Amino acid sequence: MARFSLTTPIYYVNAQPHLGHAYTTIVADALARWHRLSGDDVHLLTGTDEHGLKIQQAADAKGVSPLEFADSIAPLFAQAWDKLNIQYDDFIRTTEDRHKRGVAKLLQACYDAGDIELDTYSGLYCVACEAYFTEEEIDNGNCPIHKRPVEHVEEENYFFRLSRFEDRLLKWYADHPNSISPHFRMNEVTSFIKQGLRDFSVSRNSLKWGIPLPWDNSHVAYVWFDALANYITAVGYGTDDAAFEKNWPVSAHLIGKDIIRFHCVYWPAMLMSAGIEPPEHWAVGGWLLVGGEKMSKTAGNVVNPLDLIDEFGVDGFRYYVLSDTQYGNDGDFTYEGLVARYNNDLANNLGNLCSRVTTVVQKKCDGVSAAPRADSPLREHAESAVRDTIEGWNSFQPGKALDATWSLIRATNAFLENHEPWKAEPSAELNAIMGDALEALRIVAILCVPAIPATAQLVWERIGLTGDVSHERIPTSVSWGLYPAGLTVEKGEPLFPRKAK
Ligand code: ME8
Ligand code: MG
Repeated sequence: MARFSLTTPIYYVNAQPHLGHAYTTIVADALARWHRLSGDDVHLLTGTDEHGLKIQQAADAKGVSPLEFADSIAPLFAQAWDKLNIQYDDFIRTTEDRHKRGVAKLLQACYDAGDIELDTYSGLYCVACEAYFTEEEIDNGNCPIHKRPVEHVEEENYFFRLSRFEDRLLKWYADHPNSISPHFRMNEVTSFIKQGLRDFSVSRNSLKWGIPLPWDNSHVAYVWFDALANYITAVGYGTDDAAFEKNWPVSAHLIGKDIIRFHCVYWPAMLMSAGIEPPEHWAVGGWLLVGGEKMSKTAGNVVNPLDLIDEFGVDGFRYYVLSDTQYGNDGDFTYEGLVARYNNDLANNLGNLCSRVTTVVQKKCDGVSAAPRADSPLREHAESAVRDTIEGWNSFQPGKALDATWSLIRATNAFLENHEPWKAEPSAELNAIMGDALEALRIVAILCVPAIPATAQLVWERIGLTGDVSHERIPTSVSWGLYPAGLTVEKGEPLFPRKAK
């Protein structure tokens, strides 16, 4: 079995999960489900980023210790992911012992390699980013991402000699030209490296809330050094060499474009310094915008995903975030857009198809299925939908994959509208038409597993199939003609009741 491991960013616990976090996590979960369906040995890692000044400040504002604060927020992320039907295999918190041990080992490895040295640094710092900026990068005294004033900070710190890694990073990317998607992000990363890299501080001595440097415990590790290490500490680095050997390198890191430099420049350099292989792939997502602004805690324009699932269902919400924005581009979150997607694609297309097919089979075929025809006009639609769905998921493009799956739903609805079986008298020909439509629906159910897993199972059972649809296998299970005659088809409640506009 091929291994396929993927990660989400570990989210800051300074506030509750919002739609932006849910977005990346749902994409990761859908990809993980796709790869499970394809027979891969999948590992999905998520977690929370709990050290650093930003969390210390948030805890101070509440008058509690940073650990108490983190303990109160981290479970909200895990609960949100459970509600959104995220099948994660591991949830790492950076305050866990396994993580602290791995971070100490990584720091020591970079220090022993001679890539961490003591120096004094002064510069402009954004606490929301936990990052330094140059004069050129800031915007009227403000952080370009958070639009908040940066602070002047001067510290004696240990520095990671990132400047030494320019050539090694460029060579690595030249040797791995498809390691970043979408591809234009690769150009962004390599041109950033070509401009010259500045060393970055890996410690703070003004802060207590962090992991002490193993060789100098008057300093704690810089929160980004600490956080990035989660990807290896969660799979055994520093605690279980055999597990680490087996699970690294990761197949794909999913990240937002706000943290591309940390992931595609700092992180591979840190790993190279420690003698560890870089990740195989980075899939970089755009931002979900609200009224043209990045949704963020700092901007105060957050949408709580849990409010939306009450109204649209888990699958309705998952489908919207996966289909409405092409992963990699920015997307606009609007309530009207959500209602439109829900009504068009789910209520009118998928929901309507399922209800038409099951109603006609009940009324005109005694509720019993016929087998599909080998020469059905739907066969070609199914085959191209399968091909393009596979292509979409395998290239980290859920929007394209779903569009391909929906092409089969649309073709099947058109096929039914063409034959109008609801007007026909019972006959062998009618049975055959319905067999074709049932087969299309069976294939659709399997292809829908990554995005709308609960609905996929519901459709599967309505058309008389048993067992867990997510145990089907791509591509064998989606070849045309496997739906058997003689199953009992049931008409149930509408899958997606229409919403008033
Ligand atoms: O940066 N649109 O955590 P964070 C799309 N702890 N995605 C969004 C988004 C939006 N409006 N807002 C957030 C951190 N995200 C660090 C990461 S990893 C070693 C450490 C998603 O809580 C997106 O994936 O600020 C982004 O990269 C991530 O949340 C940042 O979450
Ligand atoms: Mg952020």
